[in-house]
Amino acid sequence: MDAAQIEKATHHLAAAGSLCVLTGAGMSAESGIATFRDRDGVWSKFNPAELATPEAFRRDPVRVWDWYRLRRAQLREIEPHEGHRVLAEWERWFDAVQVVTQNVDGLHTRAGSSGVIELHGRLARSRCVRCEYTIEGLDDLGPDPRCLECGQRLRPSVVWFGEWLPPGAWEAAIEAASSCDVGLVIGTSGVVQPAASLTDVILSRGLPLIEINPNTSEISGRATVSIRAGCRDVLMAIDRRLRPEST
Ligand code: OAD
Repeated sequence: MDAAQIEKATHHLAAAGSLCVLTGAGMSAESGIATFRDRDGVWSKFNPAELATPEAFRRDPVRVWDWYRLRRAQLREIEPHEGHRVLAEWERWFDAVQVVTQNVDGLHTRAGSSGVIELHGRLARSRCVRCEYTIEGLDDLGPDPRCLECGQRLRPSVVWFGEWLPPGAWEAAIEAASSCDVGLVIGTSGVVQPAASLTDVILSRGLPLIEINPNTSEISGRATVSIRAGCRDVLMAIDRRLRPEST
């Protein structure tokens, strides 16, 4: 871990009242969930066109649900890590910490972050393809579950390729990026839009953008500070400098 970069990040954060934190799959990696585009990532083993599009679901809902059932089962086994907890703790230290996540695993909320904006939906929620009916939880709903209101298919309430973001989520994310003092971007390759463009909103306001990622990303070239290490250790290291009395 580069101590000078950690110091720079701490300096920017110490001067800030309000943070906007954009997270991606790398944030969950240290809880044991595979990322999408790393060497052993999810999309190296599975074809998104067969599992994560509305067309795939229309073609073969049982197969799509099979895959989501596995992902949901995995979620029952894992826990948020110290990095998630540091971000949640910072809500008591900063005036505001708005987490905007591309992750569908709910780990930020489980760690105690409030009002998390879930840009790509939530794995632990299913919704009707036709009406407003939704059901929360990770229970196995069976191979081809149906809506209790109208009898149409239920689907995982996540965003698939080619779909819009959940209503209101993008507006809320823009609001967070437009009202923060510092941006923090953690564990995302920065290739999926519109999520990645939130960093441009922050930079266009002349604000510092701190990246935490062991590898370079699409965002690295524009980041004010890049810390090349895993998010758990980096967040804990920054936290120790920012709030020495809390450790
Ligand atoms: P990616 O898999 O594209 O990128 C994960 C990033 O996490 C990479 O840049 C890694 O270098 C980094 N990383 C790995 N381990 C890390 C660690 N311990 N600490 C910090 N960073 C680490 O995942 P996303 O950018 O989140 O969308 O992908 C965006 C979207 O693409 C996902 O939300 C999903 C996917 O298709 C949908 O399903 C709609």
